[in-house]
Amino acid sequence: MSAPSESQDDLRQKIIGLGEKSLRKSYYPELQRRIKELEEAKSVVERKNAELERYLYVASHDLRSPLVNIQGFSARFAKHASEIEKELEAMDLDAVNGARRDAALAVIREKVPHTIGFIVSNTAKMDRLLNGILDISRTGRVVMTIRALDMNALVSSVVGAKSFEIEELGAKVEIGPLPPCRGDADLLSRAFGNLVGNALKYRSPDRAPVITISGSRSGDVCRYSVKDNGIGIAERHLDRVWDVFFRVGGGGDIPGDGIGLSIVKRVAEKHSGSVALESVEGVGSVFSIDIPAETAEGGS
Ligand SMILES: Nc1ncnc2c1ncn2[C@@H]1O[C@H](COP(=O)(O)OP(=O)(O)OP(=O)(O)O)[C@@H](O)[C@H]1O
Ligand SMILES: [Mg+2]
Repeated sequence: MSAPSESQDDLRQKIIGLGEKSLRKSYYPELQRRIKELEEAKSVVERKNAELERYLYVASHDLRSPLVNIQGFSARFAKHASEIEKELEAMDLDAVNGARRDAALAVIREKVPHTIGFIVSNTAKMDRLLNGILDISRTGRVVMTIRALDMNALVSSVVGAKSFEIEELGAKVEIGPLPPCRGDADLLSRAFGNLVGNALKYRSPDRAPVITISGSRSGDVCRYSVKDNGIGIAERHLDRVWDVFFRVGGGGDIPGDGIGLSIVKRVAEKHSGSVALESVEGVGSVFSIDIPAETAEGGS
């Protein structure tokens, strides 16, 4: 077989050139139109998100003042109840009225405090939830300071802040090496704080926690993962754990409000990134944050 002559090469180049030209002619305008549509859709979603965050802020902020009133008036009610108790105790009554006074005293001493206890614990819970919503809305509205981040240092300091708990639990935490990324240090610290906090909190009762924080870079995307050997999550709950207030099995006796992972997701989204979760019930979980470098640089 003879090597292609120069003229054949020229012809091939011409054909390629023609192909590119016709491609440009027919597909490029369509492609540009699609890109424009996507950009418009993205800006509508961003506007709607910002609007929603403002609503969340206003609603949670405004709901707090009646709540503070309920807490204040409950305390006053408890004070009045103890004043009534003292008055009843001081009464010098005959046998019939004495029995009635004792019945009233029983209500004041047992039922009233019990009911006030419910009001106080429920308002405290509502207060925490409203604070959580405020927190989510604040996270969404925060103006980010994007810069190159040494993720080994950032994650080490997040883990360092939990060293007492880690020691108490006999937990083992392995970090990195983690690739650097561009991001907001405060927001990413909060996100990793939540993930490491969860890995410690949802530990298995059968073994000491082992937490591995790893990272890799693939093209323009950095993926950071927090892996634990905790209680894991059943498959049917995997999508819902990112929802605000959702707790597997209502949370049981483990303290928490179901806010942390919503904040992690919000932080990833603010970096134009995403989150992912793999988990096996009874074995452990891997929570990941992807931060695409190309959009993180201009994100705010
Ligand atoms: N590492 C984990 N292992 C097993 N289950 C987890 C893990 N992390 C989160 N979960 C489940 O997902 C739910 C939601 O987690 P999230 O961090 O949002 O809230 P929380 O820990 O319950 O409360 P908060 O973070 O507001 O204190 C948890 O209640 C728990 O059921
Ligand atoms: Mg949490």
